[in-house]
Parts: sequence; structure tokens; C-alpha cells
Amino acid sequence: MSDEIKTYLDVAEIYRPENAKRNKKVGSKLKEEDHETLDVVRGNPDDVITMSHVDIGFKRGTDLRVVVQDFSLALKRGEVFGLVGESGSGKTTVGRSIMRIIPILNGEIRYNGHLISGNVGSARERELKTKIQMIFQDPSASLNDRANIDYIVSEGIRAFHMYENEEDRLEKVTDMMKRVGLRPEHLKRYPHEFSGGQRQRVGIARAMLMHPEVIIADEPISALDVSIRAQVLNLIKEFQKESNMTVVFIAHDLSVVKYISDRIGVIYGGHLVELAKANRLFEMPLHPYTKSLLTAIPLPDPKIEKGKKIVTYDPFAHHYRYDDVPQLYEVEKDHYVRCNLKELAEYKAFVANSKKGGSK
Ligand SMILES: Nc1ncnc2c1ncn2[C@@H]1O[C@H](COP(=O)(O)OP(=O)(O)OP(=O)(O)O)[C@@H](O)[C@H]1O
Ligand SMILES: [Mg+2]
Repeated sequence: MSDEIKTYLDVAEIYRPENAKRNKKVGSKLKEEDHETLDVVRGNPDDVITMSHVDIGFKRGTDLRVVVQDFSLALKRGEVFGLVGESGSGKTTVGRSIMRIIPILNGEIRYNGHLISGNVGSARERELKTKIQMIFQDPSASLNDRANIDYIVSEGIRAFHMYENEEDRLEKVTDMMKRVGLRPEHLKRYPHEFSGGQRQRVGIARAMLMHPEVIIADEPISALDVSIRAQVLNLIKEFQKESNMTVVFIAHDLSVVKYISDRIGVIYGGHLVELAKANRLFEMPLHPYTKSLLTAIPLPDPKIEKGKKIVTYDPFAHHYRYDDVPQLYEVEKDHYVRCNLKELAEYKAFVANSKKGGSK
């Protein structure tokens, strides 16, 4: 029956009053009681960021290349959302669209229910510039090498006058330096005098000083030495817990996001292909691309690792037809997979079977 079929878009869209007309259409597939459950449990007005049907593309001359398509996502307050996918899949583009660095072609992005895609008033602009911060992959490229650390870390609070006087500013900056594991005397130094890990700490200090509500951490540990990755990861997690921030943690590798994320979204070719709670994604990966990502994680036992078969994903194996367009469907509670109706039935049967098997 149709009420069995819930798409992620239904969930993200239903609550919005201004979408009443569309909701009616979307909602007509669902039973009345589902509306309530869906409203409360998943896409709900308390979500910090919602992206609905977002397309993002780049123009070169008269050509337009759409690199992120029909992307919908509701970020819950205080969650760490891992966004994983291969190089070029659109992770940074999604992050930059939330930051409003790049415009979107279609759809909408909301922050605390307010529309932020497109033009916003100057007061909202100011709020967004403080409340949504980004931590970048390459700490060397993201810090101005001609400015000292004091200047770099204070840039945001200076621009938005987030301190009372010079003494107060210095106190805030010094406290933050200590919090991220750097020393106050480091403030006089320049980025090139630091190691990669220390530079990333500077980037974190700069972002955290703004007391953001949302952090887009774009592969913040990929460029770092393996030995210091865990320290930087822990630092981000500490700040997140302390102020109940929402973090979008972007990575190539599922093993990195497993440790830190509450939910994980897998992106392939600009589409979200699977979305689930972190432990469930590892326990019950359904989309073949997610499975291939999982086989790419190195195993600690060299013997098993040697005999391991890495699965490569073939996007043409689905044989989608024009009248059989895949979308993000809910296969089990809070677990969405991009598939067509035939695949949906198979995934549902697979999940049901494994549950039966597991309870024996
Ligand atoms: N400013 C731009 N102009 C034109 N094309 C762009 C631009 N930025 C990104 N792209 C294209 O958009 C696609 C997605 O890029 P994006 O940087 O979002 O990928 P990614 O998943 O972050 O990859 P990586 O893991 O390598 O960082 C790529 O094909 C890229 O070439
Ligand atoms: Mg990127």
C-alpha cells in the first residue's frame, strides 16, 4: 500500500506551512497519522538547517554543469552529521551552499526556519556570518600567511564587534588559544611558523570564537598527520558537545565519520544515496555505493586485509528507466536509500529478513 512508501523529501517538506499546497499533494501518499509521526520525529521546525530540492551548478560560458541535484537534508540541532563521498561528489559544494558562498539554482535552504538561499536582509546576513562557520581541509591555504595569529583568530569578532574593549578581546582570544591547546605567546607568530595540526587548531579557534550554531567541517583532518588526527577530532567533538552545536563533518572515508557522527549521509555524483544513523549504516548498508565505501576501509588485521575483496561501484548496474526515477525512500525507520520501487521492495525484504534472522 502507498502509505508504506515514504520518501525523504516527504519528510523534509511536510511541516512547512507555506508549502501547504505541495504538502497536500506529497502528503496524499501518506496516512493521516504518518503526518504527525513524520513531523515530530524527523523533519521538524526545530531543525537548524533544512535543504529542500537543492540543485547547485557552475556556469562556464553558456554551459551549465549541475553538480548537486535534488539534495534534501534536515540537520537536527546538536547533531554531528557525517557527509561522505568520493572526490568530486559534491561534498564541499553542499557545505559552501549552506555557507552561502555559492548560490543555488533551485530549491531552498533554511536556517532556523528562515529562508537563507537568495538575498537576505543585512541583519540576517550578519547573523549568518557569525552563526554558521566553516573549518577547512587545508589549514595552510585557509590562513592568511601575512597576518599574525592574533589578527587571524580575532578577525571575525572584530568584524562583528563581539567584544567590549581591547582588554576583553585579548582575554577572549587568549582563553580560546588555551582551549585549543595553543599558548598565548603564539598569538604574535605567523601561520608558517606552525605545524599542520597547530594551524588547524588556529582555524578551529577562529571559528569557535564566534560561538557558532552550525559548523561545516570540510575534511578538517585529511591534511593532517595520522598521529594528530584524533586530537583534532576530539577537539571538535568537545566544542560540539559543550555548546550543542550542529556539525556537518565532511570526509572521504567512512571510518573517520563513524567515530564522530550521529547520522551519516553518503553522497555520490551530487545525489544523497543513503542516509541513516551512524551505527545502522555500518550494520545494514544497503546502497551498493555505501557497501563499496565500507570495503575500502582498511582492516587492522593484515591477514584479513590481504584477502579482502574491494567492491567497486558501478552506477549503471541499476538500469534505471526514465519512468522509474530513483529517489530517496525510507526503507526502515530513519534509514533512507536512493532507489527505484523495485529496489525499495528488495531492500525492505532484505531488512525484514535480517531482522527475523537476528531475533532467532
Ligand atoms: N567553482 C567551481 N567551478 C566549477 N566547477 C566546480 C567548482 N567547484 C566545484 N566544482 C565541480 O563540482 C563538482 C563537485 O566538487 P566538490 O568540490 O563539491 O567535490 P568534493 O566532494 O568536495 O570533492 P573532494 O573530496 O575532492 O574535496 C566537481 O566536479 C568540481 O569539479
Ligand atoms: Mg571537497
